Amino acid sequence: MKILLVAAEVAPIIKMGGLGDVIGSLPIALEDLGVACDVVVPYFPFAKVESSRLVKHLELQVPYGGQTHQVNVYTALLPGSREVRVHLLQNDNMFHGHSKTWKLQNEQELEVFSFFDRAVVEFVKASFNLYDVVHCHDWHTGLVTHLLQDELGRERPGTLFTVHNLLYQGIGDPTIVRNVGIVPGDHPLIDWDVSDGDLNMIQQGITSSDFINTVSETYRDEIMTAEFGGGLEDILQNRESHTFGILNGIDYKMFPRSYDSTDWQEKKNSAKNALLHKLNLSTDLTKPLYAFVGRMDPHQKGIDLIYSALPEIVAKGGQFVLLGSGNAEWEEKFKEFTKSNAMKNDVSINTLFDPKLAIEIYSGSDFLIAPSRYEPCGLIQLIAMWYGSLPIVRATGGLKDTVTEEVTGYLFEKYDASELIAAIGKSMNRYTTPEHKQMVSNALNKDFSWTKSAKKYQELYQKLIDFRRSNA
Ligand code: GLC
Repeated sequence: MKILLVAAEVAPIIKMGGLGDVIGSLPIALEDLGVACDVVVPYFPFAKVESSRLVKHLELQVPYGGQTHQVNVYTALLPGSREVRVHLLQNDNMFHGHSKTWKLQNEQELEVFSFFDRAVVEFVKASFNLYDVVHCHDWHTGLVTHLLQDELGRERPGTLFTVHNLLYQGIGDPTIVRNVGIVPGDHPLIDWDVSDGDLNMIQQGITSSDFINTVSETYRDEIMTAEFGGGLEDILQNRESHTFGILNGIDYKMFPRSYDSTDWQEKKNSAKNALLHKLNLSTDLTKPLYAFVGRMDPHQKGIDLIYSALPEIVAKGGQFVLLGSGNAEWEEKFKEFTKSNAMKNDVSINTLFDPKLAIEIYSGSDFLIAPSRYEPCGLIQLIAMWYGSLPIVRATGGLKDTVTEEVTGYLFEKYDASELIAAIGKSMNRYTTPEHKQMVSNALNKDFSWTKSAKKYQELYQKLIDFRRSNA
């Protein structure tokens, strides 16, 4: 079985978010199961790869917008793997600036990624069409299946489309359909989509791919509803029997820890002490320390709920630390808390990206708050459990599938600050009890490594291969 993973990022070479982590870890776990994988991504200028480790592997001539563009394929070994190859598609005109800090405009992004999709298909052809499954991720890869179908017909590989976040859809100018070389009338699914004046890339991925999956089972069910479906719920319901849910794993090698469920008490205490010192907070270890680490995205991550709960945490004798950046307005609002004399010894707001501090926060905190409005999988609750910081989460998506009430953390249902505050209250009441200690040990014993999820992907690939054989 040979798989090609197609995505906009692959950690540690190109990492913007959780998607990059998945693409950097899943192939390694698959390789351990004997599944051969390659990865293909755009060669953005900020890609972290030593040029001495790159080999120029192919030159592709990619038709796009009525012209032919040269794309050089550079190949590197995925760090940590034995032989997973990352193919970086280089064309400096197209792949010049998509990054965390310098976001392309929506229209440019659509051009960049529709070109990428076209180049990926040329890559598959130039690689003698040897992949059994082309595994596409998120809206950036939405046109791959159509183009494979046009170029290779029945000989095309099977396609699996993974939705990491349904609300980023890649909507824009339908002329890109012509630019990639798709002829109007050839694909009714596209004609139907563009009849309202724009093209929706994720919709194309969802409607055209053989199989679809999301990154947790609960999110798979949620996206069939109006609340989570982003307008695509009807389409998803139609494809329900071809849609699956597989939870992401976590790469524990990235997260060293010096304790486990047998000896955590003293070690976590000293980590907490060091953290409080470093952040200039009052070092009273009897105060429960709550944390949030991650993107300050007001639409997804529930930071408005955290904002409302924060004064309550402090008023009830707790402390709070935040690490993350994103929305400037919310960054400023949170920083206001640290200006108040009543709160400044108990609240630390760090609006930056600092992976070392992140680990210090996971190990030093007692609880991690993740009150997301929606969460396809989520990584912070998994890392928190690994470091014995109990997650307090909204019961949605991957948060619901990974945290167990009063066993490894606390859950609340409604997207409402009073529910979050009640869950925090529960955690505070238990904080000094043996039950709390038992929960920390439970969390430390959880195993969310990639192996289990990779086995499920292997089974799904096989199912897809069988499905295509029987429908050929
Ligand atoms: C997206 C989702 C997140 C998920 C990640 C990786 O960033 O928002 O929930 O964990 O993709 O699949």
